[in-house]
Amino acid sequence: MHSFSSFHAKSFLLLLTFLCFINIAVTEEGFCSAPSISDDTNSNNQPLYAKVTNPTLSPSHLQDLPGFTRSVYKSDHALITPESHVFSPLPDWSNTLGAYLVSPAMGSHFVMYIAKMQESSKSGLPPKHVERFAFVLQGLVTFTNASGTGQTLTVDSFAYLPPNSEHLFESDESATLVIFERRYSYLEDHIPEPIVGSTDQQALLDTPGEVFQLRKLLPTSLSYDFNIHIMDFQPGEFLNVKEVHYNQHGLLLLEGQGIYRLGDSWYPVEAGDAIWMAPFVPQWYAALGKIPTRYLLYKDVNRNPL
Ligand SMILES: *[C@@H]1O[C@H](CO)[C@@H](O)[C@H](O)[C@H]1NC(C)=O
Repeated sequence: MHSFSSFHAKSFLLLLTFLCFINIAVTEEGFCSAPSISDDTNSNNQPLYAKVTNPTLSPSHLQDLPGFTRSVYKSDHALITPESHVFSPLPDWSNTLGAYLVSPAMGSHFVMYIAKMQESSKSGLPPKHVERFAFVLQGLVTFTNASGTGQTLTVDSFAYLPPNSEHLFESDESATLVIFERRYSYLEDHIPEPIVGSTDQQALLDTPGEVFQLRKLLPTSLSYDFNIHIMDFQPGEFLNVKEVHYNQHGLLLLEGQGIYRLGDSWYPVEAGDAIWMAPFVPQWYAALGKIPTRYLLYKDVNRNPL
């Protein structure tokens, strides 16, 4: 009896192994684990209870967990991770979906949103007295300024529009922008100019006491009441200053991964994550992993906080 069933078990294993090879040959689905009797009872072709004996903490697996999110919303900071983005049609734009990641409802004086332009899409104008900064994350966007001059904006390029300036962003195919807007804080005798540029054209700036690389996308002159910083860290580099300051921030992690400290919380973060930092929230970053970190950061500047 024993040898009989063992013979059958062996042929069954051989059959499964054979089927497994066919599966690889046909679908190229890669890894074919040792066949087990439970193989065809599990829809993923994984052994029963495989997640217990082969645990993983990789973010892609955590995102599979129903109800799990790394997003956090607190009174002085928020981490908004991609699995939490909710898109809806942007008012005044055509064929464009937007996800607001930071808004005054959180306590900020600016909005930060992702705009996903689809085929034949067009931007709308911001409200009166509101300035706009748009940065291309994906695709090609045609930008037309108030004099009707058109320019193609590619990934890593940007446009700044002072308040009440006519302009249009258009896309024939899919394109993604991250946009910051705020009510302009007027200053006598200072008038901001429209600006179009790209990250690689901006000079590397000195960062005394720090190791990260810094570029500013807008001029530092008093006409501008905010700036957008591009900050690059090699893996293992971190902020020296454990910053606490009056300025507020909206941050989009463009590349890499690391740990962001916000107040007393320490968050693992990766490209695609967005962060809101209220004034005076203690903040600190360390880049980890194997590839450099790059993030884009809104910062209000040049105005008396009174
Ligand atoms: C529009 O862009 C052109 C080319 O860069 C520039 O010469 C012109 O001054 C711009 N007009 C406005 C209103 O910004």
